[in-house]
Amino acid sequence: MIDQTKLPTALEYIECRDPETVFAAIRRLSVRGAPAIGIAAAMGLVLGIRDFGVRPGVGDEGGGGHEGFVKVVNRVSDYLASSRPTAVNLFWALERMKRCALKHMAQSIDKIKQAMLDEALAIRDEDARMCHAIGRHGAALIPEGGSVITHCNAGSLATAEYGTALAPMYASHAEGKSFTVYVDETRPLLQGARLTAWELMRAGIQIALICDNAAAHVMKRKGVDVVITGADRIAANGDAANKIGTYGLAVLAQAHGVPFYIAAPSSTFDLDACDGDSIPIEERDPDEIRRGFGVLTAPVDAPCYCPAFDVTPASLIAGIITEKGLISPVTGDSICETLGS
Ligand code: MRU
Repeated sequence: MIDQTKLPTALEYIECRDPETVFAAIRRLSVRGAPAIGIAAAMGLVLGIRDFGVRPGVGDEGGGGHEGFVKVVNRVSDYLASSRPTAVNLFWALERMKRCALKHMAQSIDKIKQAMLDEALAIRDEDARMCHAIGRHGAALIPEGGSVITHCNAGSLATAEYGTALAPMYASHAEGKSFTVYVDETRPLLQGARLTAWELMRAGIQIALICDNAAAHVMKRKGVDVVITGADRIAANGDAANKIGTYGLAVLAQAHGVPFYIAAPSSTFDLDACDGDSIPIEERDPDEIRRGFGVLTAPVDAPCYCPAFDVTPASLIAGIITEKGLISPVTGDSICETLGS
């Protein structure tokens, strides 16, 4: 996988041969973005079971055989699930992998391993297809000559390919439309500046990188047509968790009459969460604020509060662009109707 912590200054790859390397990569954001985390975890689980019964010591806890194999699947899955709490794609992908293992339990362990590898690859391939469909459904929201604001990175780096929030931009660009994307820097870890700016510029899409606190001014002076961001988890009523700062952007969008859209595949919906209050919000190391990228920019012991995500209430969201179509207005019923179809 690309080590996203090194971008944009270096394009380096991490070779993952065990679940520990995948866990560490997820936790330190070498791989990040909800769908990409899910895909990485599914593949991490495959790495965790591939030596079962081959390498001595792997799977001893269950005494070998199918029972031991299931114990290893559950242990590695629980371990990977503890890497980050908010993006539901992580748990969705791991649950799907466990269901796959159980479904093939009547077969040999080698066959179950093969089925799990196939499932992880299917999760990756389906994500790529969903992102392209999101692009097709969302492109009409970007007018010729218009402008968009996005926050964080919900592009090809955050998914199997093409992205969620960036997919309508890639699709519009492919249609030959010209438009400008205002890219929020996205404090504190600068996913917008480091990743979104990098991938949109590589694609030849016109951007203007802005400080997060410039968004209101840009909406007022530049006539922004639409805001599109991704999501890490969408509750049954449409409340959507995404990178910290997204909620503020949605409030600003409403104040300026700019429609605010979320783009996300069905794997990002958590219909067991009735609303945004039930979504766990990750808190990260205060040094990400105090000494981002190694430079001390605050008193060394300044007390900090560092939530990685916030929740935008459904009432501020004009629509959710999914691979199955646009959900608008955003209500529990319209979500069920679109996802169920
Ligand atoms: O902390 P990160 O970089 O994993 O946060 C990512 C985001 O908030 C993205 O916008 C979200 O996962 C959607 S990715 C298609």
